Amino acid sequence: MKQYEPPFVTLTLSDGTTIKLATKRDRFDRVFIDTSVLFSQYGVCAYDVGLQSTAICQSAITFINGEKGTLLYRGYPIEQLAEQHDFTDVSYLLLYGERPTGKEKEQFTEKIRHNSAIQSELHLFLNSFQHDAHPMSMLLANVAALSSFYQQDFDINQPEQRKLAAVQLIAKIPTLAAMAYQHSLGRSPTPPQDEMGYAENFLHMLHNVPGKQYTPHPLFVKALDTILTLHADHEQNASTSSVRAVASTGSNPFACVCAGLAALWGPAHGGANEACLKMLQAIGDESHIDTYIKRAKNPDDPFRLMGFGHRVYKYYDPRAKIMQKICHDVLKVLGNQNDPLFKLANSLEKIALEDDYFVERKLYPNVDFYSGIVLKALGIPANMFTVIFAIARTTGWMAHWLEMMDSSYRINRPRQIYLGFPQRDIT
Ligand code: CMC
Repeated sequence: MKQYEPPFVTLTLSDGTTIKLATKRDRFDRVFIDTSVLFSQYGVCAYDVGLQSTAICQSAITFINGEKGTLLYRGYPIEQLAEQHDFTDVSYLLLYGERPTGKEKEQFTEKIRHNSAIQSELHLFLNSFQHDAHPMSMLLANVAALSSFYQQDFDINQPEQRKLAAVQLIAKIPTLAAMAYQHSLGRSPTPPQDEMGYAENFLHMLHNVPGKQYTPHPLFVKALDTILTLHADHEQNASTSSVRAVASTGSNPFACVCAGLAALWGPAHGGANEACLKMLQAIGDESHIDTYIKRAKNPDDPFRLMGFGHRVYKYYDPRAKIMQKICHDVLKVLGNQNDPLFKLANSLEKIALEDDYFVERKLYPNVDFYSGIVLKALGIPANMFTVIFAIARTTGWMAHWLEMMDSSYRINRPRQIYLGFPQRDIT
């Protein structure tokens, strides 16, 4: 049996067997018990549905303190990054560990521009989708199709090729997303523009109509850019851990991102912003809030207050505060400070935060509570909300993929508690 030097914890099984398990501490001194030897050395397993108490990797990218409502990218608080940097800086920071110098930003921006166009074959592929297809399904299929262009010459063992693949994905995702949207409207796609920044370019590709040049208000560009920053990474969330799970088999990064997109689409994760807006529209009026609060509290009703609660945050999600302010600023520019949905969201938040059910369970608004109202104000339809989340999170997925590929990892292969039939014969 392997002997561990302290620090370790001791686990005693009911038959008296004593197991010493090594412990690790993270940067903020939180303790993690290394359970990886439990099965191979003792024949027992840890059981943790939903991986609520299980760290799946070591990472230096993002840190969340859910009790205090802190979010750090590479050590920098999200509030400072959202205020002082744009999404291109943040992408660089997440991918490479430090904020870019002026020269590094210029070169990175140029690489993104250079890789943002889409192969003409993909335009044909997109045309095979019905116009009412959900943009997330088009995006997912297009990213999978994109893998076919890069599979043959791509060598996952070459760090430079891996970095290029990350840039290709970050560069092409907004183009694919805008193409999907334009297709749903029966329009031809608008190609990316070299002179525009990342967020402005996306808004332009989304809303531009031939013969009618679209120029977004600078505050709308800033609002979208901040939304991208806020959604860029969130450590081991469902989609990022899905990307890591697929990456653990050595899959192509485009296929790994498809796993992330699929996980993100669900209403418990990236689909929450679309679901939240629909919920606010369904509530419709402040006089109906009580009915919906009662429904959210009823254990026999599957309804949940969308944009509320979080696996990690047991305090106000710091992104929600920033989002609430963006929402206010965008509506002001539009002369729509009294937007009924914003007023409704503010009232709903106030009522929920004073309600014992939400207080006891530490359920606070999350990033998606206000993001739908902002995106709607920017003229973006609800079925594109998760797509925008996906554009932002592609950076986080790629940062985690690069980190994982640079470290030692093993294929993900969890255990199960089997409760089916014992062995039986076919008679
Ligand atoms: N409305 C009403 N009750 C809730 C809600 C909610 N939004 N969220 C959690 N609860 C209750 C839940 O019913 C449970 O109650 P009880 O202890 O009586 O059984 C308790 O709170 C704990 O909930 P849980 O489901 O065990 O918590 P979880 O960590 O598994 O789920 C969550 C986290 C985000 C999936 C959940 O809070 C939720 O479904 N929220 C609404 C969807 C949403 O806004 N998702 C976006 C998350 S932020 C974007 C992102 O980072 O992906």
